[in-house]
Amino acid sequence: MSRKTEKINVLIIGSHGMLGQELVRIFKNDDDYKVTAWDRKNIDITDEKQVKEKIKKLAPKIIINAAAYNAVDLCEKDKKEFEAAKAVNGKAPGYLAKIAKKLDAILVHYSSDYVFSGMPEISEPQGCSGSCAMCHLHEGFAPEIGFDEDAVPEPIQKYGKTKLMGEIAVQKNCENYYIIRISKLFGKPAKSKEAKKSFFDVMLKLGKKQKEVRVVDEETSLFTYAPDLARKTKQIIEAEKPFGIYHVANQGACTWYEAVVELYKMAKIKTKVVPVGSEDFLRSAKRPYISTLINTKLNPLRSYKLALREYLKNNF
Ligand SMILES: NC(=O)c1ccc[n+]([C@@H]2O[C@H](COP(=O)([O-])OP(=O)(O)OC[C@H]3O[C@@H](n4cnc5c(N)ncnc54)[C@H](OP(=O)(O)O)[C@@H]3O)[C@@H](O)[C@H]2O)c1
Repeated sequence: MSRKTEKINVLIIGSHGMLGQELVRIFKNDDDYKVTAWDRKNIDITDEKQVKEKIKKLAPKIIINAAAYNAVDLCEKDKKEFEAAKAVNGKAPGYLAKIAKKLDAILVHYSSDYVFSGMPEISEPQGCSGSCAMCHLHEGFAPEIGFDEDAVPEPIQKYGKTKLMGEIAVQKNCENYYIIRISKLFGKPAKSKEAKKSFFDVMLKLGKKQKEVRVVDEETSLFTYAPDLARKTKQIIEAEKPFGIYHVANQGACTWYEAVVELYKMAKIKTKVVPVGSEDFLRSAKRPYISTLINTKLNPLRSYKLALREYLKNNF
């Protein structure tokens, strides 16, 4: 007689989003899980009563929140939009954390490199006082430049402030959480019509239409491939990593310009790529000059170039 083991009940919110759809695919491929996939039509996470009642009834052991407000420039210039961003990114994660705590469930929540200022502290080599003018200890010393999991967040635009509000709300309201910071997500476009396309999709379209594109050669950071992130999320949970903050992104820090040069080379697009400064590209919200996420806790993901090659091969 065969005995069925009980499946793990996992709830994925924001299931139609770029990341959400990959999470659903990865968890559904594993028979150990019973997956419930909810998007905006199933639950409005800004409604605390709904969050409490609906999730209590479902009683998941794992809640993964991939829902978010991502219109960085719109919420900078429009008060109503900023309120909407605060509700989804800032307050709702706290509601999810409260119900996760009540149900003794694990909460996974995603945040952003935009919680950082863009001016990372640059460490000195071990033993150096830091007040030398390049002592011998600096010879061959190449510090990793960016922000690790313990760096102090200091957002410089409203979107980043709402994401930091969300991190704080999660930390205040439950203990069993993974806050996973990521940057520049790319992958298959989200299902909803209004969904933002990833930078690579936008640049591919432009490259096929234009002879020349102008791209910001600043704002160094990492790209994150949605399927790699979804797989890593599952690994973090299954490895029972200590609860806390994690940085997950593909390797290879670069500017937007450097990434487009790579993209066009891979896609054999001959369009000329012209590097410009961020001041040449008017946007409402400030961007961090450097927002590379340093990961000190996990095995690293593959390089974004390998992930991008796979994305192009499978989708174009
Ligand atoms: N995209 C990036 O470059 C980037 C960078 C750094 C961090 N992140 C973070 O990564 C995570 C995943 O982002 P993503 O790009 O996959 O997002 P996305 O594609 O914009 O998807 C977000 C999903 O959340 C849903 N949603 C929005 N408001 C909701 C509400 N009130 N209740 C329930 N569902 C709601 C959306 O539904 P509708 O389609 O109906 O609106 C959408 O399906 C987010 O935490 C995001 O902040 C993303």
